[in-house]
Amino acid sequence: MEFKEVVGRRRSIRFFEPHRPVEREKIQTILEAARLASCAVNANWLRAIVVERDKLPRETLDQLKTPVSAVNLELAPVHIYFYGDLGAVPRSRGSTLKELVDVGALNPSHGWSHKFVDDLVWPMILEPMMSSPIMQTQAVAADCGVAICQALLAAVDEGLGACLSAFSTGIAKQALAVPDDWLPIYCLLVGYPAESWQAGGQRPRPPFEELYFEGKYGTPFQRDQNVVESLKAANMIQAPAPLPGRREEVRELSRRFGLPE
Ligand SMILES: Cc1cc2nc3c(=O)[nH]c(=O)nc-3n(C[C@H](O)[C@H](O)[C@H](O)COP(=O)(O)O)c2cc1C
Repeated sequence: MEFKEVVGRRRSIRFFEPHRPVEREKIQTILEAARLASCAVNANWLRAIVVERDKLPRETLDQLKTPVSAVNLELAPVHIYFYGDLGAVPRSRGSTLKELVDVGALNPSHGWSHKFVDDLVWPMILEPMMSSPIMQTQAVAADCGVAICQALLAAVDEGLGACLSAFSTGIAKQALAVPDDWLPIYCLLVGYPAESWQAGGQRPRPPFEELYFEGKYGTPFQRDQNVVESLKAANMIQAPAPLPGRREEVRELSRRFGLPE
């Protein structure tokens, strides 16, 4: 699928075919996409633990659920629990940046050398970043978010349904033997959709001009209608929810799965 269409077709899928297995190659592809994401300090903070729902003891599965993710976790046959490894940068002490120098990605043209990493970047930028909870959280959230987004889009490209979902992090830590310095992020639920891929249309978003600015806050970035039309033609911007028939679709799915209507 073309990139723009992948972006356009993605929906948070919450009704999965609960017993249709997901091919292992597809799960690997999702993880491969995450691994290639741009990452802060080139330190690859993101960690994932892939879990087949049916291999979880029933009690653990129930305990992993939260009020906003219970049905999602129940129906999705594959759960990918994502974490940010807070030890990745401290362990590296800048070595992952030196690797970028060695392969010609960071160059003297831009001031980079091993000495620059040792004398300036590590002590003046990375050490302070990792000792400030706010800066550390900012970095881990952005780093893992970028990689998780690639995983999410890869799932869509593989024809799967996917939804990021909250989970009970304390239960997961015990059940999945999560190391102490891994920060829980979100769980990516994956499976074949039981709902139509349109899932009722693209979900509501605030107006473009309320989100994005030009030059300074308060001056909206002007949206060119010609660009909008070309993105519609490329299936990136699609019909907004609710599409006709969505209520009936949800009612049928709810009956099928014994869920409230
Ligand atoms: C970080 C993150 C956490 C989310 N957590 C949940 C969740 O716990 N339960 C859920 O049903 N959806 C969750 N979602 C899905 C959002 O609700 C969804 O993306 C939003 O409603 C927009 O719909 P769309 O993804 O179909 O465009 C999450 C999404 C993100 C990005």
